Amino acid sequence: MDLNELKNRARGEIEKIIDLKEADDFFKKYLGKSGEIAQVFDSLKDLAVEEKKAIGKEANMLKKEIKEFFNAKKDELKNTSKQIDLGQREEKIDITQPAKKMQRGHLHPLTLAMNEACCIFQTMGFEIAQGPELETEWYNFDALNVPKDHPARDMQDTFWLRQNELKVQSAKLKVGEGNYKSEKLLMRTQTSPVQIRYMESHQPPLRIIAPGRVFRNEATDAKHGAQFYQLEGLMVDKEVAACNFKAIIEDFLKRFFKTNIEMRLRPGFFPFTEPSFEIDVRKPDGNWMEIMGAGMVHPNVFKSAGLNISVKSGLGWQGFAFGVGIDRLAIVKYKITDIRLLYQNDLRFLNQF
Ligand code: PHE
Repeated sequence: MDLNELKNRARGEIEKIIDLKEADDFFKKYLGKSGEIAQVFDSLKDLAVEEKKAIGKEANMLKKEIKEFFNAKKDELKNTSKQIDLGQREEKIDITQPAKKMQRGHLHPLTLAMNEACCIFQTMGFEIAQGPELETEWYNFDALNVPKDHPARDMQDTFWLRQNELKVQSAKLKVGEGNYKSEKLLMRTQTSPVQIRYMESHQPPLRIIAPGRVFRNEATDAKHGAQFYQLEGLMVDKEVAACNFKAIIEDFLKRFFKTNIEMRLRPGFFPFTEPSFEIDVRKPDGNWMEIMGAGMVHPNVFKSAGLNISVKSGLGWQGFAFGVGIDRLAIVKYKITDIRLLYQNDLRFLNQF
């Protein structure tokens, strides 16, 4: 029996071992119950006493040595596996790795269009004014010189509130009496009532915009919604004329669409302006799209708001007002074919902005 050969063989094998499973196999093969060392001890019983002693001693030493090989290897393997673990942990904060893409929110196209429009008018000196979405008949219609029998007041066009009957019955003044102001409630159909509210508490010169939501009781289609956004404008100053309005709107449209967009002024009719215009822009497909109503403020409107323009009229005080549809601006700017897409919250649509 060549114990030296056994030792060299064990050393050779242990060096090649790369994982704990192989180390285990090695242990069984050499140090296990019927492993090679056990066989050496087994074979001792056939030897003479002297030989037994000498070889027994050597075999014990060999067993110790092989155990040491094994223990050293096991320690080495444990350390490297710790390093592998550590390595993986470091990988988690590897700053060179591409990061996981985070979902970020963004502004709705209507908000983008509204913000942009407000910013442009603000650079021209227009201040922002606001009014309530739930309005009274006085502010939304009467004060704006809208005739009592105007079809816009119909149930079909205006969302009236149910409590109206009660309100009207309890009002002290009756329709047509003194300075009766109807408190019948409705969802405002336009942002124009903000003009009245503002003029009640401010003296000219005035330069305001009033962004906001308006409501119409009508069927929806690709160009109309039951609610939409308007940006009202009002400028009152000495010798303000329709040509000032045209210049301001031309400048606004150029800046909003960032091109020399074609526009046209058509004669229109609104009870609160005289003369009145409708403004169209040319869409990329060549068709015209109406985007705003406008005109020179009717004297009755100044009167309703309690603004004594007539005293100042000797100085040539006048005003223009306009109401631009933000939804319309947005669909032209972003080349959207249907206004209803702006209210459906379909992420496939919204993610494109
Ligand atoms: N209020 C009108 C509308 O909603 C628009 C408009 C505003 C027209 C101001 C003239 C002056 O259609």
